[in-house]
Amino acid sequence: MKKKWWHEAVIYEIYCRSFCDSNGDGIGDLRGVISKLPVLKELGINCIWFAPIYKSPQIDNGYDVSDYQDIEPDYGTLADFKELLDLAHGMGIRVIMDMVLNHSSDEHRWFQEARKAKDSPYRNYYIWQPPKSDGSEPNNWGNYFREGSGSAWEYDELTEEYYLHQYSIKMPDLNWEYEPLRKEIYKMLHWWLDFGVDGFRLDIFTRLKKPKGFPNTEKAPNVILDRNGFVVDTAMCTNVEGIHDILHELYTEVFGVRECVTVGEGAGVTSQNALGYVDREREEINMVYHFELASRHIHSITPEHFRRIQTNWADVIRHNGWAVQHMSNHDSARQVSCYGNDEKFRVSSAKLLATLIHTTPGTPIIYQGEEIGMVNVKFDDIKDYNCCYTIGDYNSMIKSGVSPEEALKFVGPRSRDNARTPYQWDASENAGFTTGKPWMKLNPRYPAINLENDLASEDSIFNYYQEMIKMRQEHPAIIEGELRFLMENHPQIIMYLRECEQETLLIIANYSNEKAILSPSDVVDSGIWQRLITNQAGMLPFIGNRDFLLPWEAEVYCLIKTR
Ligand code: GLC
Ligand code: CA
Repeated sequence: MKKKWWHEAVIYEIYCRSFCDSNGDGIGDLRGVISKLPVLKELGINCIWFAPIYKSPQIDNGYDVSDYQDIEPDYGTLADFKELLDLAHGMGIRVIMDMVLNHSSDEHRWFQEARKAKDSPYRNYYIWQPPKSDGSEPNNWGNYFREGSGSAWEYDELTEEYYLHQYSIKMPDLNWEYEPLRKEIYKMLHWWLDFGVDGFRLDIFTRLKKPKGFPNTEKAPNVILDRNGFVVDTAMCTNVEGIHDILHELYTEVFGVRECVTVGEGAGVTSQNALGYVDREREEINMVYHFELASRHIHSITPEHFRRIQTNWADVIRHNGWAVQHMSNHDSARQVSCYGNDEKFRVSSAKLLATLIHTTPGTPIIYQGEEIGMVNVKFDDIKDYNCCYTIGDYNSMIKSGVSPEEALKFVGPRSRDNARTPYQWDASENAGFTTGKPWMKLNPRYPAINLENDLASEDSIFNYYQEMIKMRQEHPAIIEGELRFLMENHPQIIMYLRECEQETLLIIANYSNEKAILSPSDVVDSGIWQRLITNQAGMLPFIGNRDFLLPWEAEVYCLIKTR
């Protein structure tokens, strides 16, 4: 494998709106990010992924782009961004942009023009269909956010046709069949690379291609959340035949002719079909992050699940591909609340999850706040929620007769807002996020959970992340080692080796709230091992010399000498 910088990178996702507000308007902004670059440097990350910071009506917090070549005024200006980019580069931190290529905002100039007339030069930038003979929608597809009638098609009176929107009514899908649109996108991508960015995170890239003829989905409507018979079928526009041609052209026109990294958001990507996108020979994209291990819909995982998914993805790497390691992002709940224990074992379980993500094969992505163990939030009023899924699902449930309490109980833990409450910098008012009124309520646990606390304590989660990131730089087995699980049937323990020519690492974790018992036959005793890190206070003996692991204990060892 020819190593590229991104094989060794640790990416940090910034959700600008909730990161740091510099001017007291309650909204995070670029100058806020600039003020925090030194602490990101201290953490050790070397690449930032910005969730969309383009000009946008903010229907979906920036995933509805109204100008791909300008910065959202709430966040700052292009000049601020240039300054940020130069400062980051000076610190050895690369920056990648979130590219939303499936849809734009309906306030984008292209759509404003397109909807004016059927013969507008921009008409075919979007996807239009005439009504059926009875005036109804072209097919039974539902929109993901369950807006309006629930359909993925919106009737536009002026030209008497429907346009497709897989997500919000205010986010019309772009038409990748149309060459002038594609050319315009390539130009825009080159413009960003000329500006100095280092690559792109590709929003729902598997959904750019739509099935020919827009056939109805056969999937039955989901009873609680259905709207008027429109069906939200996550497969309907995902991995459709022809998608690879689109990506290959993006590669030959942009990604392959410039120095840049591409990280795809892998809706519908599994270890089984991933090589179709990330096999280097295919010339499409570099890596995708998938939702097989953790996602908005997976509320707990088991060691068995972890072993299976990691083994499969290690295979993708072995076959000329690459992988991403992550357990949460701006679209999910908080990882320590879902996959750890956010009460009694918050600190050790957050560290354990970090250990798993940073020692399995692939490039880790940290989501802001994860490095201080930020937890889920519970609002008592739907008005405090902002996420389009949360509100859409809630309204659908209310419509079908579910009580507000029950509906909240269902949508709350699934809400993307769990990840979107403002960053907790310190214990002062509004956690130091803003001096004004924050755009979203804070998590009430901020007086205890905040960066200032973590920086003051030697065994904080933040410190542990620092160590994990350093370890990646010092141990080649983490990047290129083969992955081999041990104790493959244990219900609590996750244990594996990472082996390359230079070294062998052993990772062991008790993925549970209870002590785990090791029997003599379980133990790796064929060598002398040096402990590189532990998430436990005090020095416990080497695991070969004891018969238990504490709840949520995680350790990494390096083989010094074979016996
Ligand atoms: C991706 C984004 C998500 C957004 C959606 C529509 O899933 O990560 O935040 O709502 O695409 O753009
Ligand atoms: Ca601001």
